[in-house]
Amino acid sequence: MSTKRTNDHHHQAVAEKLTRVRQQIIELSKHYDRGADSVSLLAVSKTRPITDLQAALAIGQRDFGENYLQEALDKILALGETDTDAPQWHYIGAIQSNKTRPIAEHFDWVHTLSSSKIATRLANQRTAARPPLNVLIQVNIDAEDSKAGVLATDLMPLIDAILPLPNLALRGLMAIPRAATTLDAQRRPFRQLHELLNVAQQHYGADLSGFDQLSMGMSADMEAAIAEGSTWVRVGTAIFGERAGKGDATLAPKGGQ
Ligand SMILES: Cc1ncc(COP(=O)(O)O)c(C=O)c1O
Repeated sequence: MSTKRTNDHHHQAVAEKLTRVRQQIIELSKHYDRGADSVSLLAVSKTRPITDLQAALAIGQRDFGENYLQEALDKILALGETDTDAPQWHYIGAIQSNKTRPIAEHFDWVHTLSSSKIATRLANQRTAARPPLNVLIQVNIDAEDSKAGVLATDLMPLIDAILPLPNLALRGLMAIPRAATTLDAQRRPFRQLHELLNVAQQHYGADLSGFDQLSMGMSADMEAAIAEGSTWVRVGTAIFGERAGKGDATLAPKGGQ
């Protein structure tokens, strides 16, 4: 097969999977009485080639999640950042303090803020010429040693520290719970994150306007997240296929596909 035909075929596969995920989001939103358009889809495009992002862009996907900075900057340069039609770039990885400047300068959203030191650097490095950087606080909702994010008990002090900072819009919370296999077990930590959002909204009132976003749910737990009020599902595998290096799923031929 020629390279072009291989690419066309691959484009089509991404478009079909993306269309299926969109359909699932619509059906789940209906099923759980979520308002139409209350759940947005963040296509997690880290490690994916630019052609995959182009295939998604071609059918109207706008929001992309990245977490390897150099890779992300290459994609942003190739696909654009500030026009109205340009993609919206979401940073979803660990933030080292010496890497805040490119994040502040080139991204639209950060889902993984968990310290006042990083918040201060992002605020100082965000140009006032761009809209404020939308930030979500990552909460270590299952209090796991291996996970990033603030503990629930440290959330309010961090909000207090972020509120006075310029050039940031504090928009909500994000979490990556411990993997669970039943729907009930998957829903529990998402419900807890939603409750934290409610508590903070009540506590801060109008001081925290626009604090209404919940970034939760991935390919394997999207239903649970939508049931519990997610406004951003972050989906990679279900759109772009297995990532290389994730088990041997990309190496072993799969039957029936
Ligand atoms: C923070 C974050 N959210 C979402 C995803 C997407 O996960 P999945 O490919 O299982 O949909 C990833 C993928 O690594 C991630 O790192």
